[in-house]
Amino acid sequence: MKKALALLLAAMMAFSLFACNSDTETSQAPTSEDPGSTTSDNGGGTVTNAEKPLVWFNRQPSNSSTGELDMEALTFNDNTYYVGFDANQGAELQGEMVVDYITSSIQADLDAGEEVSLDRNGDGIIGYVLAIGDIGHNDSIARTRGARAALGTGIQVDGAINSEPIGINTDGSSTIVQDGTLTVGDTTYTVRELASQAMVNSSGATWDAPTAGNAITTWAASFGDQIDVIVSNNDGMGMAMFNAWSQEQGVPTFGYDANSDAVAAIAQGFGGTISQHADVQAYLTLRVIRNALDGVDIDTGIGTADEAGNVLSEDVYYYDEASRSYYALNVAVTAENYEDFLDSTVTYAPVSNQLSEETSPVKNVWLNIYNASDNFLSGTYQPLLQAYDDLLNLNVDYIGGDGQTEANITNSLGNPDQYDAFAINMVRTDNAASYTSILSQ
Ligand code: BGC
Ligand code: CA
Repeated sequence: MKKALALLLAAMMAFSLFACNSDTETSQAPTSEDPGSTTSDNGGGTVTNAEKPLVWFNRQPSNSSTGELDMEALTFNDNTYYVGFDANQGAELQGEMVVDYITSSIQADLDAGEEVSLDRNGDGIIGYVLAIGDIGHNDSIARTRGARAALGTGIQVDGAINSEPIGINTDGSSTIVQDGTLTVGDTTYTVRELASQAMVNSSGATWDAPTAGNAITTWAASFGDQIDVIVSNNDGMGMAMFNAWSQEQGVPTFGYDANSDAVAAIAQGFGGTISQHADVQAYLTLRVIRNALDGVDIDTGIGTADEAGNVLSEDVYYYDEASRSYYALNVAVTAENYEDFLDSTVTYAPVSNQLSEETSPVKNVWLNIYNASDNFLSGTYQPLLQAYDDLLNLNVDYIGGDGQTEANITNSLGNPDQYDAFAINMVRTDNAASYTSILSQ
């Protein structure tokens, strides 16, 4: 109690200092969280590691079997948030994009009085294969459900579409999915998920692009003429399949993330992708940290313009207080608009103004990427973070993981006292406590 009072006083002093001299390094706003035993001098105030701003991003703390949010991790302290994107809205968009493509491709052939080229073997079945990223990742599950929902192949289990991989289902006998139907003009096609698999490599890395490249080669060798469409939970796996097989075959392939290479491939026959607005997410990841460190309203430069003029509009994100989560909104990227998305590493213009070091002095941030070889995080998200860290005067240490071993990452968090804030991208969504236990020591 005495200690808490002393800490509060120290924090108040730091605050009043800040009020009369903006050059002074500031401490963050005092929090109600019970301070842990480790304290560090954070430039003017005593802040425990457990009180420092903490942002989870890309992998939301949650139970990997039930999807239930880990509220303990999400409310670790008063300055804890999650930054991601609206998984259901994006999944629905991806499903619609695939169905729209199929429908208009068939319609175009019918209109021209030609044979329907999308149904490659002419069997009246539109066969597709699905690359699944990570069966324990909410976002991956949502995308699998979105594709099956739109294509009519989903089966409800306990109020939600079964998202399990099916293995091979060329004969349509699977009990995990069902055959759907799609009517274009006066022809009704059967839609069948021919095969799906979680793309996990032999050492356990998920969303694994090379595994997807191997899978399509294997599938194509045994039932290639049945594959009319490829759907992937992300671009990394989708592009691996495109490069290994589908580009040459002219089989439309759909991904997710709007990575630069996938967007460029739309000109070469890649069917389309979804932008999860990584430019907005990367900004939010660092912006909430900035705001917490500056002790300003958390909405500054987000829903409310900051002094530099940075502000986001409601059509690109929303905040959900109950889950302490910021969610970016998704946009479909197709042949119609892909030219606007060719570089996935460009910052979002409305939030690209430099902050002043007077009001936002340089601070040190520890940030990890769960897998340094993840196409999306390393090729799109991290370059964006690196652009924003300059604009927001944050000195960020980027730690790259191997996608498998949480301990390799947490080992790099050996000296949290050195940092003013933390941004975490877990290997497994269940593992939040591996990080918070270090910060609580
Ligand atoms: C991306 C995937 C990525 C995953 C990593 C997802 O949001 O779409 O490409 O592999 O995040 O967690
Ligand atoms: Ca067919």
